[in-house]
Amino acid sequence: MGHKKRSPGVRPAGADPGPRKVHIKTFGCQMNVYDSERIAELLAPLGFAETADVEEADVVVLNTCHIREKAAEKVYSDLGRIREIKERRKREGRDTIVTVAGCVAQAEGEEIVRREPSVDVVVGPQSYQELGDLLARARSRGAAVVETAFPEKNKFAALPERAGRGAPTAFLTVQEGCDKFCTFCVVPYTRGAEYSRSVADVEAEARRLVDRGVREITLLGQNVNAYHGAGQDGRAWSLAELMLRLACIEGLERLRYSTSHPRDMSEDLIAAHRDLPKLMPYLHLPVQAGSDRILAAMNRRHTRAEYLALIGRIRATRPDIALSTDIIVGFPGEADGDFQLTLAVLEEVGFAQAYAFKYSPRPGTPAAGMEQQLPDDVKDNRLQQVLAVVDRSQTAFNSACVGRVVPVLLERPGRHPGQLIGRSPYMQAVHLTAPPSLCGHVAGLKSSRQASIVSRES
Ligand code: 5AD
Ligand code: SF4
Repeated sequence: MGHKKRSPGVRPAGADPGPRKVHIKTFGCQMNVYDSERIAELLAPLGFAETADVEEADVVVLNTCHIREKAAEKVYSDLGRIREIKERRKREGRDTIVTVAGCVAQAEGEEIVRREPSVDVVVGPQSYQELGDLLARARSRGAAVVETAFPEKNKFAALPERAGRGAPTAFLTVQEGCDKFCTFCVVPYTRGAEYSRSVADVEAEARRLVDRGVREITLLGQNVNAYHGAGQDGRAWSLAELMLRLACIEGLERLRYSTSHPRDMSEDLIAAHRDLPKLMPYLHLPVQAGSDRILAAMNRRHTRAEYLALIGRIRATRPDIALSTDIIVGFPGEADGDFQLTLAVLEEVGFAQAYAFKYSPRPGTPAAGMEQQLPDDVKDNRLQQVLAVVDRSQTAFNSACVGRVVPVLLERPGRHPGQLIGRSPYMQAVHLTAPPSLCGHVAGLKSSRQASIVSRES
């Protein structure tokens, strides 16, 4: 076809192929889930309806993750498959615009197009508000467009207002980027320096979500408890102050936040877990490792004793809190003695949930250049040991809930007819039989059979 310049929402006169479709696939963290929702909301007024079927998509967006090598490589294998679909659609006279968004886009930029020439648009996490224009430019130029700048004007101001998904739970990004520079982590490079949205901006978005039926909001940030957004009084507000404000929104029943750094776990935030009934008793607080030597090499800025003391203060304030963590096994130079200390921290805390990862060297990070990189079989073995300990502590946490009545927010229909899925305050998934009209409501449920109400999330 000729490359007449037009905006992506405007179709040329002639045959009407029906509404245009966008397929968005999200990799990685909750912040990418949030970004994907906003991308869908951005494209809807330009005439794109979402489709789960990649074969019928006029625009495909892969919202990618760069945190571990496996996640990044998965993007390229998907792109190979999408190239074949694009070629097949082309033979049928239909165009497909392939977009790579997210952290792989930010980290690899032009390199993506070199490796996979069927990619038309590469857009970083700070630039996707431009996506409408970028799609139009890719179409009119007939060549790939790469946008990975960190623009002056923040993206939130440029995005359309939230439309909502009609679900009772929503994510809301309040903070982005990270200044901590853990030596294993790409985030400070892909998401940039720490930035907090203003209190007024966050509150307006939260109110809009609640108006659209949202009952639970999870505040997101790579380092969410480092939040320091401008308040209307000219001061920088803490995350606890922000949540106190949001808790006043009528109709909002639950607040959560993720992910936190131990160093930024301030006293007012700990106190909020006691004083703010809407704040759910669940805290994801990555420890990463149990040996001070490895924690120092990771540049985590906390010791094992500091972490444990912090957990002690949190539990003293909110005894029933469910604690969750991230663990990396096989960091360069991790000796068996170091690893035993990781297992010991897991045993000592008794986490209700934990996510464990094999160390993955990431280009450009200090740890990738460290000596004593460990072989994969050592990492595998340690990962299995971590999972076994976590499995026990998770089961113990869940068993302790049996017989208690817990309020469950019913979120969505389950796989089986008549089934609804909800969550307890402690993030346990609860499956039950109930009418669909109860979605969005909080029900008090007695945990009678542990196996049937509590299932492990992957
Ligand atoms: N290798 C393995 N795991 C990593 N994480 C971050 N970077 C790496 C890496 N290079 C893990 C950390 C972090 C979580 C989001 O991902 O545990 O908390
Ligand atoms: Fe990465 Fe560390 Fe920042 Fe978390 S705190 S995003 S692990 S650099």
